[in-house]
Amino acid sequence: MTSPYPDGDREKVASKLPSALQQALKIRAAELALDIQDAVEVAITDWRARATPSPEVETAGAKSFSTWLPPGLYEDFKDSCTTRGVSYTQGLAQSVRDWLDANPSPQHGGSSATEPERKIVGNQKGGVGKTAVSAGIGQAYAEAGKRVLIVDFDPQGHLSEQLGVPQIEPDHDSLVSHMCGEGQGDLRDLIVTIEDPRFGKRLHVLPACFDGFLLDAKIAVVAMQKRGFQKEAALEMALRPLEADYDVIIIDCPPSLGIAMDAALYYGRRRRGEHTGVSGVIIPVLAEDSSATAYSMLAQQIEDLCEDLSVEVDYLGLVVNLYDSRRGYVATSSLENWKSLGDPKVLAIIGDLKEQREAVRKRMPLLSYAPHSDQAEAMRQVARGATR
Ligand SMILES: Nc1ncnc2c1ncn2[C@@H]1O[C@H](COP(=O)(O)OP(=O)(O)O)[C@@H](O)[C@H]1O
Ligand SMILES: [Mg+2]
Repeated sequence: MTSPYPDGDREKVASKLPSALQQALKIRAAELALDIQDAVEVAITDWRARATPSPEVETAGAKSFSTWLPPGLYEDFKDSCTTRGVSYTQGLAQSVRDWLDANPSPQHGGSSATEPERKIVGNQKGGVGKTAVSAGIGQAYAEAGKRVLIVDFDPQGHLSEQLGVPQIEPDHDSLVSHMCGEGQGDLRDLIVTIEDPRFGKRLHVLPACFDGFLLDAKIAVVAMQKRGFQKEAALEMALRPLEADYDVIIIDCPPSLGIAMDAALYYGRRRRGEHTGVSGVIIPVLAEDSSATAYSMLAQQIEDLCEDLSVEVDYLGLVVNLYDSRRGYVATSSLENWKSLGDPKVLAIIGDLKEQREAVRKRMPLLSYAPHSDQAEAMRQVARGATR
């Protein structure tokens, strides 16, 4: 809908935009000393000029939004939306989101106020310590004053279980329903705060859901039904609305190389304007040969994803876990091999420590159960090392 601008060189455009994006746009435009209408003009023009589709943005509950644009621009924009098979609201939301990415807040060293550091803890091999590292570094960041969300992205729900958080029942609103664009309510309502004064209400968990076992199949169906739906961007679409609430978001990945892993890697890619080594992947490994094979498969998947989608995923580092030099030559030479990679760097070498297993048994955060243990210290070391 358009109506003439008083001085004739712009027309009023009435559309819809999620309130979080409206707020972010208002703040960013003020920070950059721009008029909102000029920011939106650039956002729309750039979006129309982009050759590759932008990730879908969650637009449920979008509110009325109006601005002033040069005559004809909105009509051209609507044509582009039709060509790309997206609604006008979705097109505008993508334009504004991309503009925010491309125009970071001057106060945050290049990364925007609404963009948390994203740490993807992954390895398709089970039992290497993904969950222990995800939980441990989450606690370390929260202890250090950061607002942290740990996403239990493994449908087995070990992380939720270990922290005493109930898993979400099948067919209930969940991360999976939001990833498929079928979210019923606000994802925030599902988040649980870990209560310990040490974390000052800053440590949050998004519990696993049983529906996660069906994620690959569900996403494939949605991708066939919805034009413009990009499978790899599904996690990003679901989590974006929460990002302004957090400084760090950690994804505890499932032990697989399926679509969930791709979506997690894509979520951890380096965004426009973001510094190297802030977001990316942390890989727990063991000092044994099968771990080396698993690592090369994961590295290949990361390379393929980066090439296919023209993105960059930073390696934040390796954690050599459950290390025991008494296992002899295989253990010691494997450790040397990990170290000799250089990039990714080894963030920590951690032994088989009883406090980790005891904390799990007691369903307590490690840093609450044994704050002065070597294991807790190792988690703080990994957290520090994985932040630029
Ligand atoms: N450094 C460690 N010392 C002792 N036990 C550990 C250590 N790291 C992980 N564990 C335990 O080993 C098991 C597997 O670790 P987990 O983090 O669940 O691996 P993954 O998530 O990769 O499957 C868990 O019971 C965990 O508590
Ligand atoms: Mg796990």
